[in-house]
Amino acid sequence: MVCLTQKAALAEFVERQRKRGASIGFVPTMGALHQGHLSLVDRSALECDCTIVSIFVNPTQFNQVEDLVLYPRPLEADMALLSASACDALFLPAVPEIYPGGAVVRPQWDFGGLDKGLEGQFRPGHFDGVAQVVKILLECVQPDVLYLGQKDFQQYAVVRKMVELEQLPVDVRVCPIIREPDGLAMSSRNVRLGAEAREKAKALSQTLFALREQIKRGSSPLQDLLDPARAALEASPGIALEYLEAVDAETLEPVQEWNQTLTILLCVAAWLGGVRLIDNVLVSTTA
Ligand code: PAF
Repeated sequence: MVCLTQKAALAEFVERQRKRGASIGFVPTMGALHQGHLSLVDRSALECDCTIVSIFVNPTQFNQVEDLVLYPRPLEADMALLSASACDALFLPAVPEIYPGGAVVRPQWDFGGLDKGLEGQFRPGHFDGVAQVVKILLECVQPDVLYLGQKDFQQYAVVRKMVELEQLPVDVRVCPIIREPDGLAMSSRNVRLGAEAREKAKALSQTLFALREQIKRGSSPLQDLLDPARAALEASPGIALEYLEAVDAETLEPVQEWNQTLTILLCVAAWLGGVRLIDNVLVSTTA
């Protein structure tokens, strides 16, 4: 694996890959890597000739300075994981390399409402920052395929929309959530959970799995299933629920009923012991 910190060096690497006719898969990350990220690297290596991973903690997508400051940056461990993976090149730019004019978020796109609900209600401007940095990274890497994780499903939807609006020649693929044995979705933030919060955190995925079963069994309007599930999470000591919602996986608009033609995204966000966690499951005839 080569490690590149400058855009110019990355451009040369990409040029060499292109000359040998290699297809390029790209996995953008903010580091603090876990099996979820590595599953994206594996998928890229399976489908593309060359895999490039970026580690860049993007300041423009953080709403709270504290979250940006506390964001884990275990660079040595990350590099060891990537060296042992199928990653061919790591792009590790410093902030001025990505934002020569300063790290300021500039809303540029109308995402057709995809950025407004769910995370958008609680993290204003977050998706403008995400789309901005992904566009810059895509310009640097020029991949054939961009791999994103399902855990940040709304991010995937917004990035796909930005790629469509910008008519970028890249295929955006979403990969399944990787979970701990008790169901907790893997996340870079999990390391900040204390023992008690970590134990309680499994309630989030358990709620989603139970709801998925209930929805697939049929009958009730979704509201009748969601209300008691919300109430149970709200009543759990140590869990501060932000949202538990069922939305259309295409439009991210709230849905009232499930039918066989619809794919629903059930999603949750909550604070546990000072750490904000999100999770989701898809509900469809096949999921
Ligand atoms: O999902 C993430 O880690 C980030 O939002 C991304 C896509 C790397 C952009 O900074």
